[in-house]
Amino acid sequence: MKALPADDPRNFVQQANVHCVHCDSIPDNYIQVHQNWFFFPWHRWYLYFNERILGKLTGDDSFALPFWNWDSLGGMMLPSIYADPTSPLYDKLRDAKHQPPFLVDFDYNGTDPNFTAAQQIDHNLKIMYRQFFCNGKTPMLFLGSAYRGGDQTNPGGGSVENMPHNNVHTWTGDRTHPNFEDMGTFYAAGRDPIVFAHHANIDRMWSLWKKLTRKHRDFNDSDWLKTSFLFHDENADLVRVTVKDCLKTQWLGYTYQDVKIPWLEARPTPKLAKAKNAASRSLKPTAEAQFPVTLESPVSATLKRPKVGRSRKEKEEEEEVLIVEGIEFERDHFIKFDVIVNATESDGITPGDSEFAGSFVNTPHQHRHRKEENKVKTRLCLGITDLLEDIGGEDDDGVLVTIVPKAGIGKVSVGGLRIDFSK
Ligand code: C2O
Repeated sequence: MKALPADDPRNFVQQANVHCVHCDSIPDNYIQVHQNWFFFPWHRWYLYFNERILGKLTGDDSFALPFWNWDSLGGMMLPSIYADPTSPLYDKLRDAKHQPPFLVDFDYNGTDPNFTAAQQIDHNLKIMYRQFFCNGKTPMLFLGSAYRGGDQTNPGGGSVENMPHNNVHTWTGDRTHPNFEDMGTFYAAGRDPIVFAHHANIDRMWSLWKKLTRKHRDFNDSDWLKTSFLFHDENADLVRVTVKDCLKTQWLGYTYQDVKIPWLEARPTPKLAKAKNAASRSLKPTAEAQFPVTLESPVSATLKRPKVGRSRKEKEEEEEVLIVEGIEFERDHFIKFDVIVNATESDGITPGDSEFAGSFVNTPHQHRHRKEENKVKTRLCLGITDLLEDIGGEDDDGVLVTIVPKAGIGKVSVGGLRIDFSK
């Protein structure tokens, strides 16, 4: 195959830059596609056109991108075909230690934990369960928060986007490079061919999410459905596509192979005995956090619950959501903090425990042409109905929330905490 000219939108570098499309090739069409409700549809179209282009250039119309199912037992490591230095799928800028069979860490903080393989797998499976079934209960929780014309660009990402999507980016990139290039920062992620396999699995998560429970469904908001994006197609023509036209993979000519899903029953379990838990609930934190607070060390606050003792039906209709709001940082920092409920940092809570409500994770994203976009203000939404049932806290008037900074310590601040309900 002969190389395409540098300015052909179908060539590898141009395709990598599409990930930063609104920075480079089409500056007038700026839409942020991370940390809001466009994350899944935009990336689906990105994969779609990349696949069409590869099919056309290789003369194989049936070409399909592979998916890296890191959520399966055999897939929790960098797939060996990408790790072979003689393969075109190889990329030098990856973490030297995270080579197969080193296990991927869905809770990656920028340093490797000291867990056994069995513990790491257990955490990964429980994280998948939590992000799907607890933190992903409603369209807003799973797909991300609404982002309309004139809104701030980062209203809040969906559950799986936050974790493990962002963690896998950083985990794959080279920690000796300033932004964990290539995968650990969006401007460079597309230069590593594995981004397409990673995102194919993210795309598969969207399909699965809609398949697994009746309650999982797309937004029916016309602002979302009618939104369009520009891409170059396999003939290098610029085309406009809409969110509404990508909701079913069949419409785009593909489906995902059915593979084993080992996390369907991996519900996290409480770490603290219920008695200890009850005691910790009556305890006030040693110091109530004063918001806004810069996360230099763990902070705790008690939060009143607007509704207590909801019926099964009420719980099914509306998810109780713990919102960490006013999260502010510079876009080019890797940020990670954990949120734990009715436990403190000294309890040694891990992601396999029910008390671990979730994490906020930011994959760095630089904007070369838009310096004013460098400050991000966003929020994290965590579904806590199941969590409170599991730790025996559903009849309490309040919750004790502890935020534990893990990466980007001192570089992120939090504006406050709130409980709301999501349908
Ligand atoms: Cu555009 Cu994996 O993110």
